[in-house]
Amino acid sequence: MAPEHTRSGRRSQAWFGLDGKLGFVHRSKMYNQGYSASMFDGRPVIGIANSASDLAPCNAHLRQVADAVKRGVLMAGGVPFEFPTISLGETLMRPSAMQFRNLMAMDVEETLRANPLDGVVLLGGCDKTVPAQLMGALSADLPMVMVTGGPMLNGKFQGCDAGSGTHVWQFSEEVRAGRMSREDFAAAEACLSRSAGHCTTMGTASTMACLTEALGLSLPGSAAIPAVDAQRHRIAEQAGGRIVEMVAEGLVPSSVVDRRSFENAIRVNAAIGGSTNAVVHLLAIAGRAEVGVSLDDFDKLAADVPLLVDLLPSGRFLMEEFFHAGGLPAVIRELGELLHTGAATVTGRSLGENCAEAPNWRTDVVRPRAEPVHEAGGHTAVLRGNLAPDGAVIKVSAASEELVRHTGPALVFDTIEDYHAEVDAPDLPVDASTVLVVRGAGPAGYPGMPEIGNLAIPKKLLDAGVRDMVRITDGRMSGTSYGTVVLHVAPESARGGPLSLLRTGDRVTLDVPGRRIDMDVSESELRRRTAESELQGDAENPAPAGRGSGYEWLYRTHVRQADTGADFDFLVGRRGHAVPRRHL
Ligand code: FES
Ligand code: MG
Repeated sequence: MAPEHTRSGRRSQAWFGLDGKLGFVHRSKMYNQGYSASMFDGRPVIGIANSASDLAPCNAHLRQVADAVKRGVLMAGGVPFEFPTISLGETLMRPSAMQFRNLMAMDVEETLRANPLDGVVLLGGCDKTVPAQLMGALSADLPMVMVTGGPMLNGKFQGCDAGSGTHVWQFSEEVRAGRMSREDFAAAEACLSRSAGHCTTMGTASTMACLTEALGLSLPGSAAIPAVDAQRHRIAEQAGGRIVEMVAEGLVPSSVVDRRSFENAIRVNAAIGGSTNAVVHLLAIAGRAEVGVSLDDFDKLAADVPLLVDLLPSGRFLMEEFFHAGGLPAVIRELGELLHTGAATVTGRSLGENCAEAPNWRTDVVRPRAEPVHEAGGHTAVLRGNLAPDGAVIKVSAASEELVRHTGPALVFDTIEDYHAEVDAPDLPVDASTVLVVRGAGPAGYPGMPEIGNLAIPKKLLDAGVRDMVRITDGRMSGTSYGTVVLHVAPESARGGPLSLLRTGDRVTLDVPGRRIDMDVSESELRRRTAESELQGDAENPAPAGRGSGYEWLYRTHVRQADTGADFDFLVGRRGHAVPRRHL
């Protein structure tokens, strides 16, 4: 493309800088928006990839955030062009927003590559939108900064703070147990979402916003700013200015993120009590960046990191307090030498330099290392055993201490629908020692690896006061939930993982300290069951009806397993932003 860069060396000039018919066409049609010729004179062209959507309420306000980014781009001498991306509303999309993360990543990657852009500001917020945009942008490797949308203001209910997700799970169990009235439950519904923004707990959205910052891909301090705080718009404006500088510096994401950045993100995830979903997303993002990160890294690297941030679901507070405490820079400074402080960031300075002076105004929210919320080793444990040869994860800080070593009989459900149909039956064969298992919820099996892991406790046990049980699934769990739940079992049952051989009544042993998850079934019996299921074939044990065409087919056919991030096999890696051909 080099000869086409007629007026400057910028990528966008391969479109706007051309003379003759082609340059005419590229510029002329853009003039219909009222732009003047100087917009195309060689100044950096900055895309604003906006996932605002009325159907993704956590991202709806990104329209206003985009205006602030535009201001920053213009002030710095660039030209901003906003464009929409697919958006993924966690609460509305069926069968699971996760089924569309890779689709959104494809949209972002292809749109960046196909258009006359020199750099991009990514605007995301709700759970899957942030990893999807990062995955796409890292594969395209254009200069980029992410601006996340920020959390809502704290929910308020009956004089107390109430957190997104976490309190919903708690309230609905209270209603089932008869301790909360339906009227109060209905009243709570309107109290939890008080303003624009994403979930207020350290669920997946807040986690991914923090990890983006830890990776060095957003401006320091940006993750925790509430969506409606004026500071959110100021940092968006700054991001607009910074991306123009990054284009001039040629600072592409592949020179920002490396193995150190991902090690930092994994450690920060432990310190903030981040979502288990971050494991799947970071693995996928690392795959796009061509940085080697394995599932075991999440256990090994988190082993000496204490939980410092006292936020729901692992602790007490919500994102507004985290913001007032100083946000992620306070955590990064507190972690000190536990991080690679020399890792690069989009500011052009190192992570350590960005946070060297970061204050901590609320040591009850961001604890000093000497007084953590939870000692080191309390975060992600990666389990293996004859139930999960490729691994499974459990969030230790969300589990009950008395259950982290537990043996009990399995009660197995092939689908989440079966579970829902039977969970409240008075004669359900369970007691508190039962291990509840729901399979068929993996990436290919569901398809889309839904958040079904925090299975409701069976009604008869709930009535008897049981609040937690060992639960196992090849699906995921909402980042806002809690409980002794083994997640992301790989290989999943639908891909022939040993979870598919488990039967009701088999004894299952969870041993978190020993990092094991096993069924007490002999090798020979497992071989016999394998042979039997092969003999029975699909007729006796049909896979859930799946479409034989369309995106669902593509998803089921190409999705990888959870232990490598559930990306599509053909999307892993960096493809850059060169375009070999043009149509005119
Ligand atoms: Fe969008 Fe929680 S539902 S962030
Ligand atoms: Mg969520």
